[in-house]
Amino acid sequence: EPYREPLRPRIHFTPLRNFMNDPNGLVFYKGEYHLFYQYNPQGTTWGHMSWGHAVSRDLLHWEHLPLALAEEGGVMIFSGSAVVDHANTSGLCRVQGNDRSCLVAIYTGHGLGKQTQNLAVSQDRGRTWMKFAGNPVLDLGLKDFRDPKVFWHAATRRWVMVTVLADQRKVRFFGSTNLTAWAPLSDFGPAGATGGVWECPDLIEVPVENEPARTRWILDVDLNPGGPQGGSGGQYFVGTFDGTRFVSDDGVDRVRWVDHGKDFYATISFSDLPAGRGPIWMGWISNWQYANEEPTETWRGAQSLPRKLSLRRTAEGWRLVQQPTGGLSGLMEPESARHQMLKDALPLPPSADITFVVTAADQAETGLRLSNQTGEEVLIAVSADRRELSVDRQRSRNGPVPNGYAERHVGPLRPFAQVPVRVIFDGSVIEVFANEGETVMTERVYPTQPFTRIEWIGGRRPASGSTRLMALRSAW
Ligand code: FRU
Repeated sequence: EPYREPLRPRIHFTPLRNFMNDPNGLVFYKGEYHLFYQYNPQGTTWGHMSWGHAVSRDLLHWEHLPLALAEEGGVMIFSGSAVVDHANTSGLCRVQGNDRSCLVAIYTGHGLGKQTQNLAVSQDRGRTWMKFAGNPVLDLGLKDFRDPKVFWHAATRRWVMVTVLADQRKVRFFGSTNLTAWAPLSDFGPAGATGGVWECPDLIEVPVENEPARTRWILDVDLNPGGPQGGSGGQYFVGTFDGTRFVSDDGVDRVRWVDHGKDFYATISFSDLPAGRGPIWMGWISNWQYANEEPTETWRGAQSLPRKLSLRRTAEGWRLVQQPTGGLSGLMEPESARHQMLKDALPLPPSADITFVVTAADQAETGLRLSNQTGEEVLIAVSADRRELSVDRQRSRNGPVPNGYAERHVGPLRPFAQVPVRVIFDGSVIEVFANEGETVMTERVYPTQPFTRIEWIGGRRPASGSTRLMALRSAW
């Protein structure tokens, strides 16, 4: 039965079958959230890249739709974004009564020795798409020029496109009034982490926590390899954007990781969210080091829960804060609220939302052990003395494992008296949010049998009421 396989997540988006990587074209339009994604309709490893498609009204329950954009004539459809052209600035929308709007997708065409930026248009709420007759809209004759993210910049009244010159470790910005004619605005980089090619950039105006009406811009740039745990990973820069140029607050060598786990890549934020709802982004939960070898076999790849973004001002400078959005509590099994996690092992449901608190006095690894009867286990813990959050999957799968999988990963925590930790467990997906999302770790786990037990590790017995386990119902 689909969506009941042992390693199949039940609250995360996964394709019914075949291979998926980056989320693409996230956009809200006429009451629906659209998720497009890099998809191989023909197989369980990367290839024939096309845009798969799903829609949702709550960012949790997704309905699969037919392929939106297919590989054609040896040209694959690589990553990109989608916008609502409300005022028909492109002239490509078919005006229907008072409604002048349409959806425009901006994607990379990969083939014939180069990468170019292209448009496709949908008049019917994303159900069918027409590639623009004037494609490509940007052709620099380059082999590594990709992943266009387009947004409307209200202050300068034009569209801005963020792209990468991947092998040069550069972001290049373009501007346009009509989505079809683009002129270069400026370049950013190399800067920060440059140990791999730059991919999937995004430029996002992010609210500052607890300071109403204050914002700062983040420039998000993924890279492969050279990520925080090896293989692929995401970094961000904090700064200002005047419509033409992004200026980072930091020195060129400063590196800020989006997520300290091994499996969070190619994030993209939603276009056109209703005021106050965003910014929200999603990322692909895998790593190019082993994406093609994940032991899920009939399908590969998962998307993260949508995460709401803010910036926190700390004694050590800006920190990106990511929190799962939407109503996970709507999936709560009613009786599960009563569970108090104490020292003895409890049954672990297939999907759960778990919280616990670690204090500065807890010296050893303090946190959770998820395990099964074969002795496979994953440890999710805080080491207060080292101020580290960790996920240890070294003993999480018996037998052969993909290269780069059987590892312990750590992320830094700022000095604390107490750290709240929230773990979303979903079969083979673990998203960990410490300090309300200031330190985040996302990891896949592949036990040969489901994890069915949860217990507390570390010396101190947690104070009653400080831990909570909420069993979640499947969204599928
Ligand atoms: C990132 C990426 C993108 C590219 C796509 C191809 O994971 O390499 O740069 O557009 O995947 O599938």
